[in-house]
Amino acid sequence: MTSLAEKLTEMTGAAFAALDLPVELGRVALSDRPDLAQFQCNGAMAAKQSEALFASKKGQKPRNPREIAQSVVDHLQKCHPETPQDVEGSKDTRPDPSAQALQDDGGVFAKLDIAGPGFINLDVTDDYLAAHLSGIAADERLGVDKIVKEETVVLDYGGPNIAKPMHVAHLRSSVIGDSLRRICGFAGYKTIGDVHLGDWGLQMGQVISELEERGMLGQSVTLEQLEEIYPAASKACKEDEARMEKAQLATRKFQDGDPAYQKAAQQFAEVSIEGMKKNFDALGVHFDLWEGEASAHGRIAPMVEDLKTKGFAIESEGALVVEVEEEGDNKEMPPLILYKSDGGVMYGTTDLATLVERMESYTPGKIIYVVDQRQSLHFEQVFRAARKGGIVPENTEITHAGFGTMNGPDGKPFKTREGGVMKLEDLITMGVEKAGARLEEADLAQDMDEGERADIAHKVAIAALKFADLQNNRIADYMFDIDRMISFEGKTGPYLLYQAVRINSLLRKAGAQGLKPGDFVVEDADRSLALLLTELPDVFAGALRGYTPHLLCDYAYRLAQEFSSFYAACHILSEEDEALRASRLALCALTHAQLTLVLDLLGIKVPERM
Ligand code: ARG
Repeated sequence: MTSLAEKLTEMTGAAFAALDLPVELGRVALSDRPDLAQFQCNGAMAAKQSEALFASKKGQKPRNPREIAQSVVDHLQKCHPETPQDVEGSKDTRPDPSAQALQDDGGVFAKLDIAGPGFINLDVTDDYLAAHLSGIAADERLGVDKIVKEETVVLDYGGPNIAKPMHVAHLRSSVIGDSLRRICGFAGYKTIGDVHLGDWGLQMGQVISELEERGMLGQSVTLEQLEEIYPAASKACKEDEARMEKAQLATRKFQDGDPAYQKAAQQFAEVSIEGMKKNFDALGVHFDLWEGEASAHGRIAPMVEDLKTKGFAIESEGALVVEVEEEGDNKEMPPLILYKSDGGVMYGTTDLATLVERMESYTPGKIIYVVDQRQSLHFEQVFRAARKGGIVPENTEITHAGFGTMNGPDGKPFKTREGGVMKLEDLITMGVEKAGARLEEADLAQDMDEGERADIAHKVAIAALKFADLQNNRIADYMFDIDRMISFEGKTGPYLLYQAVRINSLLRKAGAQGLKPGDFVVEDADRSLALLLTELPDVFAGALRGYTPHLLCDYAYRLAQEFSSFYAACHILSEEDEALRASRLALCALTHAQLTLVLDLLGIKVPERM
């Protein structure tokens, strides 16, 4: 359904068109001065150029913005006469809710005026707002339209490396990527989330040669063993050049398909993946595909042949590369290396071959990479090579949705107190412990059995971790502060869970008393909550457009806060006026439904009670 701001935009756009000005000038948005008006349109200010053109065609003097704004308002007045409302909102003048459906659109605007040099301020009538809310509440998608065209979106996130511990960039990538998958899915795209494992790089050769060194090649290793073997191998390679050469050689042999090496790698990869799956399950992050760099190996040789034939793959200093410099580049753009001079392949080679594979298997409309922003040059090179080589056509979008670093209190990438990489499972365990303590302090979930309490503590911990990450614009760095993020106060996941649970229990209580939500009646005390509830479609569209879940976080937080004010100001269950009580219950129900939906899009699960 059309959002409220869009409906107003249509009306105002028509008014601009009637003045021979572009419809786009009629864009109406929520006012940034809610004390002055609910909505605003700044089109008259932006009309200058079009007006000059129009006036010169007609041989007239151009109108100034204020005059244009006045004509727009006049036109709106003519088509949708202003119906000022009784601001007192006293019971006697309250409109009859049964007459709520608007027969004509005579009752759209409660206020239309002009501020300053030509800003148009608009308020809608409470009846119009109530009717719009009814539409949202009756819609199972809560007013958010589905994208109609069939299109597949491939999302590349997670990206942990076999045998290596996951670090914070993998955590961020997983949390953001999984949320984007949910957002794209809700929009109506067919989504494919691919974990794109690092299973082809030097660490494979390091582990293999370490196993060889220990006389363990051919034996099965456990996860615990692997957790000791990889760091030992990596350390040995750093300290000893000969060991490093051995590892490099082993990597090449493995990549070239040496059967013993392949077999060993397959075994420890399986062990490693099993551990990852446990972590991702605990985190509530889902992948549709468990492909990796290795999966595209078979595509490399034919792809390189093709690029050679087309003249794009060229020799350079013994290596085979694709030049990706473009005119107008203002930064250095090194070529993408396909084969190193020793014949080995690079990270870029496997990413390019993976694009071949993805295009062939899914013909996606979009491919989105949720990867550390520090890899932006890499993706720029890969994307350019993909376009140049005709691997990805122009009508398939390829986007690097990069993100900043999660820092520790020292401003450097987050590490444990011992200075090591924090393991995801330790992070989750720590979160769950803290969540348990917080619940006890707040006297929440204390009357439940141990199992349920543990489940709630887990949900609170995951909500805390995910929300703390997602609420930042993804490109920004942020500081990891577990005590702050797990608090029930402030802009946190636990606060939002608590609010959602509270509304739910209120609705349950109402149900038990036989009270049901009814038609909306908008009044002074709930008008700003009512208005906010109309914003979801626009917020969602913004989050989808920019791959920016933080917009949904902001919305959820505003919703929770607005609900708190409403709750403090209004009687709900104890309201004696039946129509008012039913309307307030409807507001509670809609707030709860939106909050639950938004949290779900962020990958956050709301417990039934707390
Ligand atoms: N494994 C990589 C890393 O740890 C991330 C993979 C990202 N995805 C990709 N298609 N390159 O940095």
